[in-house]
Amino acid sequence: MRETVTLLGIESSCDDTAAAVVRDGPAGREILSTIVEGQTSLHAAFGGVVPEIAARAHAERVDICVEQALAAAGVALTDLDAIAVTAGPGLIGGVLAGVMCAKGLSAATGLPLLGVNHLAGHALTPRLTDGLAFPYVMLLVSGGHCQFLRVDGAEAFTRIGGSIDDAPGEAFDKIAKILGLPQPGGPAVEAAALGGDPLRFALPRPLLDRAGCDMSFSGLKTAVLRARDAVIAEKGGLTRLDRADLCAGFQAAVVAVLAEKTRRALAVAPVKAFAVAGGVAANRAIRAALETVCREADVQFLAPPLSLCTDNAAMIAWAGIERFRAGGRDDMTLMARPRWPLDQSSPALLGFGKKGAKA
Ligand code: KG4
Ligand code: ZN
Repeated sequence: MRETVTLLGIESSCDDTAAAVVRDGPAGREILSTIVEGQTSLHAAFGGVVPEIAARAHAERVDICVEQALAAAGVALTDLDAIAVTAGPGLIGGVLAGVMCAKGLSAATGLPLLGVNHLAGHALTPRLTDGLAFPYVMLLVSGGHCQFLRVDGAEAFTRIGGSIDDAPGEAFDKIAKILGLPQPGGPAVEAAALGGDPLRFALPRPLLDRAGCDMSFSGLKTAVLRARDAVIAEKGGLTRLDRADLCAGFQAAVVAVLAEKTRRALAVAPVKAFAVAGGVAANRAIRAALETVCREADVQFLAPPLSLCTDNAAMIAWAGIERFRAGGRDDMTLMARPRWPLDQSSPALLGFGKKGAKA
């Protein structure tokens, strides 16, 4: 086995164009560079990610991000051992832009090509950041993902449960929209909730009455909408306090569901460590609740730094390194896949959200 390997990672599955260089060797695991170029301003007017706009922006920017990542890392293409690229799941036009860029680089340099599952990138990040050993349980919570995974190896994932409809980040964004708060909704709702009374509105805790680790956030979203409409019907509008109470009630419901389902996930998969990733993991109330659940279960709690919790290419380079070390290789037949469940035995996926295929 090669002592030191250096990989370029490319990510373009949603609304961030990203490239990174990661090195793994006797000196440790090192992110030499990580470039993330968001597209928020391009989609702002449309209230969600527009796939065609995303794809075009990825195609225009991905090679520039690669150049920037190589320059920032101080490495040339000839210093690399392989190129890893997100090959799915995600918005197909964006994934294609990344895969074509990686194929072009591989063809021009002769470097091995590795297609990486975007979700594996998220799920393996605690190994890059903290050297976490298998097995562990992972909760992916973002605008597009919501699932518990038992991670037993770099390509051994078991889905323990997940959302049967919306991802929590999607619900945070929707709540912000119906309350006239800015996007992305998560930070805005969290800030508004600070001054609110979580008990004023009786909001549901979906699926807590059902066994298992599946979750649902779509009905909760509708319940907040109804509560908002009732206040408007009664008072003719919403005060700042009404908004704060609705946000606090909504967030408390999400916290209660995630905490209880995490408790159950740790009960069915008795492991020593639990990690969380995804943009929603930035929420302090959610993070604190999950930390408490882990402490009570005597399980180590890990949350990678936020820049590595959200979409980035360092996680793709790292997942590529894990595959590369295990002998995995792809060739020019590598396909971009809109859907690609990590756990191939898990039930069929659940349709499309505004950020692409739900996983
Ligand atoms: O992982 P991410 O950057 O992108 C993907 O969805 O893949 O996650 C973005 C999501 C958005 O829906 C955003 O509203 C949510 O994460 N988010 C939060 C917070 N910060 C970001 N949700 C709740 N509380 C937060 N503080
Ligand atoms: Zn993601």
